[in-house]
Amino acid sequence: MNNYPFSIRSKLPRVGTTIFTVMSALAAKHQAVNLSQGFPDFEVDKNLLDLIEQQYRAGHNQYAPMPGVLALREAIAEKCYSLYQTTVHPETEITITPGGTAAIFSAITSVIHPEDEVIIFEPAYDCYSPTIELCGGVPVYIELKAPDFTIDWETVKRRINHKTRMIILNTPHNPTGSVMSELDMIQLEKLVATTDILILSDEVYEHLIFDGTVHQSVLKFPKLAERSFVVYSFGKTFHATGWKIGYVIAPENLMKEFRKVHQFNVFSTNTPVQYALAKYLKDVSHYNQLAAFYEEKRNYFLELMRPLPFTLTPTSGSYFQLVNYSKISDEKELDFAKRLTTDYGVASVPVSAFYYRSKDQQLLRFCFAKKKETLELAAERLQKLV
Ligand SMILES: Cc1ncc(COP(=O)(O)O)c(C=O)c1O
Repeated sequence: MNNYPFSIRSKLPRVGTTIFTVMSALAAKHQAVNLSQGFPDFEVDKNLLDLIEQQYRAGHNQYAPMPGVLALREAIAEKCYSLYQTTVHPETEITITPGGTAAIFSAITSVIHPEDEVIIFEPAYDCYSPTIELCGGVPVYIELKAPDFTIDWETVKRRINHKTRMIILNTPHNPTGSVMSELDMIQLEKLVATTDILILSDEVYEHLIFDGTVHQSVLKFPKLAERSFVVYSFGKTFHATGWKIGYVIAPENLMKEFRKVHQFNVFSTNTPVQYALAKYLKDVSHYNQLAAFYEEKRNYFLELMRPLPFTLTPTSGSYFQLVNYSKISDEKELDFAKRLTTDYGVASVPVSAFYYRSKDQQLLRFCFAKKKETLELAAERLQKLV
């Protein structure tokens, strides 16, 4: 086909192919161990697969209700109560979405108007700012403080003004593995108390939190919950990122606006998977054991990486580990990440890709949501760096 013969006024002129696609393609080309993109390489629980099969064989194959299958929303409400002691109404305050990304898109789109400012903490997951820009909003970037990537609330206070419409949180954090503390939440609560600022809290890694640390969901703080969209992902939680299913929780008046966008964006989400998840969530061990499961993976990965000439930053949550390679090379992150993939056969992601103005700190992100053999193979290949 010929190309469209006229000039295109791009709505996202700065956006190209994401770094995850670039690194995964490079990994495939060079048969590298792919620790770049955030997805597990082990199987989904067979019981969940069986439940899904039962549901589609039982004929649950047509459109689900726009906000999601009620049984699943009820199961989520029970889960929220048991984890965060928060009563969430399944009818009006929960919507099932095709993944966390779709929830983030509909939440931002439903409330951000041209020139509204949205605070994003960097390094940041890549979908926030393009969505803000599509709405004509203005992303306001605030850097997390190295080395432990915490929020400097004094800086946030200085950057808030009458145009600030939303603050985006992500805890546990991709790509740094940092988690927000109870004190962070209290400081945030104070900061927004006299404003109408909304919060988008991306909590897709809620269960992946280590060393006895407790996940501080905004749902635990009523003064934050009343102004928040809180985003979750079953893909992340149940090792099935390809299913693209998640949900959003918000107070009724915010949820009404959310659903206006959601219904014309996707309308509804995969039906049999929703029925299956409603049953699967009844057994709380399916999510309560995840922290220990991933903590073991993190510890094993650290054990394998320690003898290598990297400096490892602490990971308290998520399934990502940052490593500093300044003892090995002074190359730029992208160049070094590409060379590790092509010459050593291990793919990672340069952390510079998570900044608006590509900041080089000699940091790479590795995903440790992998089988032991995969992690061992990666470490064995990286031995050549010694
Ligand atoms: C912080 C964060 N939020 C949201 C998502 C998207 O979740 P989903 O795959 O359910 O769309 C990801 C996926 O990598 C993520 O890391």
